[in-house]
Amino acid sequence: MADPFLSIQNVKKSFGNVAVVKDFNLDVGAGEFVSFLGPSGCGKTTMLRIVAGFEEPSAGKVMIGGKDVTGLKPNQRNIGMVFQAYALFPNLTVAQNIGFGLKVAGMPKAEAQARIAEMLNIIKLPDFGDRYPYQLSGGQQQRIALARALAPKPKLLLLDEPLSALDAKVRISLREEIRSIQKKLGITTIFVTHDQEEALSMSDRIVVMNEGRADQTGTPFEIYNRPSTKFVANFVGTLNVLEGTVSDATTGTVKINAEEIGLKGKLNGSKSGDTLSLALRPEAISLGRRPGNDANLTGQIADVHFLGSVIRVRVGVGQNFVSLDTFNNSSTPPPAVGEKTEISFSSGDVLVLH
Ligand SMILES: Nc1ncnc2c1ncn2[C@@H]1O[C@H](COP(=O)(O)OP(=O)(O)O)[C@@H](O)[C@H]1O
Ligand SMILES: [Mg+2]
Repeated sequence: MADPFLSIQNVKKSFGNVAVVKDFNLDVGAGEFVSFLGPSGCGKTTMLRIVAGFEEPSAGKVMIGGKDVTGLKPNQRNIGMVFQAYALFPNLTVAQNIGFGLKVAGMPKAEAQARIAEMLNIIKLPDFGDRYPYQLSGGQQQRIALARALAPKPKLLLLDEPLSALDAKVRISLREEIRSIQKKLGITTIFVTHDQEEALSMSDRIVVMNEGRADQTGTPFEIYNRPSTKFVANFVGTLNVLEGTVSDATTGTVKINAEEIGLKGKLNGSKSGDTLSLALRPEAISLGRRPGNDANLTGQIADVHFLGSVIRVRVGVGQNFVSLDTFNNSSTPPPAVGEKTEISFSSGDVLVLH
């Protein structure tokens, strides 16, 4: 990246002799929305706290706006932060909460009041200034927390699982709201989450973290369709895995149970006799043969779930099961459990996991 706004370079962090962040590198462009996605304990919060300045890295540096901020305190970095737990001051009104950072910065009262009103409008709670946090729902509290973080016009917004304490419906509507406010203000943002759907739906780019490392960094499309490690493939999205054996490495023929499919150009140095894990997204598999699908396997219908517009079907293929979704069609009854069937897919959609 030519001119990153945030640059994290070779950052490492150990607590005692436990390495929690292992050589982390990332450039984030101005106005970009980047998520850190990974399971609990993989080092997301620690990495975010290093960017914020609450934690000092054991090695490496953090640059913001072209300036090395590694040795600077959080309040010298011009950042706004929102946490998972509602961290509003319970004894202050909504307006006082939002104005907190402005008061600390010594902003004149009239100017601060105008800014608070502007923030209340941005989060679509214009009449809530006199309420106290206990008079708000969880979702409203997180919107206030966001307004409080944004009021001093930070250059970088850091969000640590801000939606994970909310119920599903509120979570989804707040996703969209956070993203639209972020776009409107054009503020560079790091969003930490363990929820793959959240990361996929909100981000310009995702960093998938695994045990203190960035396993893969890419757009949601790249991460989902071209996972570069087994961990990323499994962690992001639903995945069907079939075990296969290379029967002829030169022709790219792979045997699954007693059937063969061609995976020329996908074997990545595997030799005849090697066993492989072949992964397929549910939407890549069709029930029955289909024009354009060059790989066919036989199986048996194990489960059928009628979900309305979609029918989710589980098919036993040898020792493995694959799940696929077909669209409901009112003139074709769904398959019956126990029925023999063929499944087909394009060999180009197979992810060979090593
Ligand atoms: N201050 C600390 N002292 C010791 N260990 C810590 C400290 N903070 C975090 N850890 C450990 O570092 C690991 C990563 O934690 P964290 O960054 O909070 O992960 P995540 O946010 O991805 O769940 C965990 O094993 C955690 O117990
Ligand atoms: Mg965390």
